[in-house]
Amino acid sequence: MPTCHVYIATSLDGFIARPDGDIEWLHQWPDIGDDYGYGAFMSTVDGLIIGRGTFEKILSFGRWPYDKPVVVLSRTLDPDAVPADRADRVRILALEPQETIDMLRREGWTRAYVDGGRLIQSFLAAGLIEDLTITRIPILLGAGRPLFGALAQDIVLTHFETTAYPSGFIQSRYAIGRVL
Ligand SMILES: NC(=O)c1ccc[n+]([C@@H]2O[C@H](COP(=O)([O-])OP(=O)(O)OC[C@H]3O[C@@H](n4cnc5c(N)ncnc54)[C@H](OP(=O)(O)O)[C@@H]3O)[C@@H](O)[C@H]2O)c1
Repeated sequence: MPTCHVYIATSLDGFIARPDGDIEWLHQWPDIGDDYGYGAFMSTVDGLIIGRGTFEKILSFGRWPYDKPVVVLSRTLDPDAVPADRADRVRILALEPQETIDMLRREGWTRAYVDGGRLIQSFLAAGLIEDLTITRIPILLGAGRPLFGALAQDIVLTHFETTAYPSGFIQSRYAIGRVL
């Protein structure tokens, strides 16, 4: 089965976007010439599974940022809403998390990048996330779209490492469960 991995940035108070989806606050920091491990992480995955909210935000950029295959999960979007020039690499599917993973296993994926707050929450609830890399940005937003939400039961994590960057970003990597 492909393993699912999270690589995401949050405000210090735990939001991945403002209530209206704005993420400009993520891009206001001085460039320290470091991609915070994003390129290395991306090189390890076969592709991305993203929620509709993340897909719609990316579309608003006007420039598609991914070379790798992307599966957009949505129960409401028209499957034909994929930009024509991306139709070979982007699919919109109305599948549950486990169904998505089963499909990707048949396609030979071994590692998937799961992105979008609500989507991550539902993959976590389904027990499908293997690890999380969370970069905390030194800003308090007060309100927004949370990375985490209600759970039916606790999820215990194992902390692997934390890196403090000169920009003030604090990046921590956790595995799901006790793995030590
Ligand atoms: N800070 C960061 O690093 C970071 C990273 C990623 C995204 N973002 C931002 O976060 C925002 C999007 O996050 P979000 O939490 O609002 O939305 P999201 O998780 O990207 O998308 C949620 C939507 O995905 C669809 N979906 C399909 N299957 C689902 C399932 N099993 N569980 C949950 N959702 C499912 C639903 O849409 P339907 O109603 O169509 O089914 C749902 O409303 C955007 O503003 C984006 O720019 C920030």
